[in-house]
Amino acid sequence: MSNHVWRPAWVVLGVVALILTARYFYVPSDFGTHERGFMYGYYRKASEEDWKKIKVKYRTKDYCKDCHADKYEMNMASKHSIIQCENCHGPAMDHPENPQKLAIDKSRDLCIRCHAKLNYPSSRRGELKGIDPDSHNAGMECSACHNPHKPSLEGLK
Ligand code: HEC
Ligand code: HEC
Ligand code: HEC
Ligand code: HEC
Repeated sequence: MSNHVWRPAWVVLGVVALILTARYFYVPSDFGTHERGFMYGYYRKASEEDWKKIKVKYRTKDYCKDCHADKYEMNMASKHSIIQCENCHGPAMDHPENPQKLAIDKSRDLCIRCHAKLNYPSSRRGELKGIDPDSHNAGMECSACHNPHKPSLEGLK
């Protein structure tokens, strides 16, 4: 092959060699996939300990079940059973120590983000029972009539 092909080819090979050399020195030896293959992608084995120190913010409703049994049972028997308590009350973290109480948000916005009627025929969001926020009892808190823990249309408050 002639020179004008080899010269740029050598430059490319040189750059690749440089990158591989730099990688050899800069990437820690414990970087890669580990016991669980590609489940967590590439990471440093040593950073597992760092991740273990990070506190999980959300606890799921299993955590609420013993202390707020009444709310838990109501919720689980209702159409809201698929919603996490923390979706409405915020992350529980170390509650009841920190925070001592979780937020109680009675705003219409809390409910409207899921219940504003949206006519999306091709997605399941459109199947969710919805209202027009401007005309459905405007100005009143939703929980004045609907029980957020047991939102049945038969048993309105
Ligand atoms: C170890 C028991 C315990 C667990 C677990 C727990 N709570 Fe509580 N919760 C409490 C106590 C105690 C209070 C404070 C009650 C008070 O002072 O009126 C409280 C208060 C609250 C309040 C505020 C009540 C108010 O009247 O202001 C909310 C909302 C709440 N918890 C939701 C939750 C949710 C959601 C979970 C699960 C993610 C949860 N809690 C888990 C014990 C617990
Ligand atoms: C759809 C949103 C939503 C979900 C889901 C939800 N809550 Fe609530 N929660 C509210 C609202 C709104 C209030 C205030 C109701 C009121 O006072 O009219 C409230 C009030 C409370 C209170 C304090 C007032 C009281 O009546 O004692 C506690 C405790 C509580 N919720 C716990 C829970 C727990 C535990 C779960 C899960 C099993 C849960 N909530 C799920 C919206 C929700
Ligand atoms: C994270 C989304 C979400 C939030 C927030 C939410 N809901 Fe719902 N709601 C749902 C889902 C999902 C259903 C069940 C839909 C179904 O099964 O048909 C439902 C069902 C309902 C129903 C119909 C019950 C029935 O018998 O058909 C009412 C009423 C309702 N919610 C009121 C509220 C009120 C009031 C709030 C605010 C306190 C609220 N929702 C907050 C998702 C939500
Ligand atoms: C003054 C009482 C009252 C208030 C306040 C109220 N609702 Fe209702 N809601 C009702 C009644 C009664 C029905 C059943 C008859 C109907 O569909 O109008 C209903 C029906 C619904 C339905 C079911 C609609 C359907 O297609 O069957 C949803 C979802 C709902 N409300 C959500 C909300 C939300 C979200 C809020 C707050 C933004 C709210 N409601 C405020 C009384 C109320």
